[in-house]
Amino acid sequence: MKKLIDKLYKENYLTGNELITLINNMNEDLKAYLKRKAQETSIKVYGNRVFMRGLIEFTNYCKRNCRYCGIRAGNKKADRYRLSLEDILDCCKVGNKLGYRTFVLQGGEDEYYDDERITQIVKSIKNNYPESAVTLSIGEKSYESYEKYYKAGADRYLLRHETANKDLYEKLHPKASFENRIQCLYNLKEIGYQVGAGFMVGLPGQTNEDFVKDLMFLKKLSPHMVGIGPFIPHKDTPLCMEKRGTVETTTVMLSIIRLLLPKVLLPATTALGTISPFGREEGLIAGANVVMPNLSPTNVRKKYSLYNGKICTGDEAAECRNCIEERITRAGFSLDMSRGDNVDWTRK
Ligand code: 5AD
Ligand code: FES
Repeated sequence: MKKLIDKLYKENYLTGNELITLINNMNEDLKAYLKRKAQETSIKVYGNRVFMRGLIEFTNYCKRNCRYCGIRAGNKKADRYRLSLEDILDCCKVGNKLGYRTFVLQGGEDEYYDDERITQIVKSIKNNYPESAVTLSIGEKSYESYEKYYKAGADRYLLRHETANKDLYEKLHPKASFENRIQCLYNLKEIGYQVGAGFMVGLPGQTNEDFVKDLMFLKKLSPHMVGIGPFIPHKDTPLCMEKRGTVETTTVMLSIIRLLLPKVLLPATTALGTISPFGREEGLIAGANVVMPNLSPTNVRKKYSLYNGKICTGDEAAECRNCIEERITRAGFSLDMSRGDNVDWTRK
């Protein structure tokens, strides 16, 4: 089994059969070895730096009905909000003062924000903070829309594939098409974005074979960023009674991803920090190198509730900024507030 990890470390590749063998036979010793190799790899590419992104959750309206998600359209208990352009620019102003040079605009699929509004938001942020990167995370759009946002100045786009098992994908996402989701990711790459894909760990019915599909898909797509985190049930969703994902499986997946895609920007996610007090630190030790503290106004934080128990919902932007810095340095890493582009990317 150790030989498989050595091969993965050297060649950044394993076949599907090798991946399933490795995952099925995972034990404490192997996990420790896998993590060591993953951390070695991220240090070779990015040093021991951890990049910071300021997350602005600007709308929790959503027209979709993902069965796991607390802001699904069908959740009538969700207290909906939208941030205005001014609200968003205020968040950026606070973020910029705190040193952030990446702003991630995340929201549900909310038609109020049509292409004109999105391009206006992107352009305004870019005008005020030309040295900062803008990342969008607003779901599936047409090729033309993605192109408009890119031309307006957006640099990156996050669109998790959620699961590479088509059957499971379509069970979790009523009326959605797996093929369209995957097509969106290829479109974003073609347009020139730094692209982030990713999946949830511990989804109801998810198997190790499904993880192999996720990993092989990521290797094939070769995104600049990968976001993964444990599934966490939300009380007002159809999956409220299901079990959540674990730190163990999530960190194993993080390490394998680091070895498959050595240059990838890989966040230790808020969801990972939610299921365990040192979840994010464990993610960093497993090969992650990005954290995304929250810049949303505190009065809307609790409303952006994708899953229950989310951390930091009561903390000011500055508190999260300092808390994270302390956590990163305590865990033996150094904070990097620069744009933190993928080493392979330049704007086209
Ligand atoms: N548990 C964990 N992650 C979730 N997401 C949405 N709902 C949940 C949940 N209940 C993740 C999805 C989405 C990202 C923004 O948050 O992967 O892409
Ligand atoms: Fe928000 Fe620690 S990161 S309080």
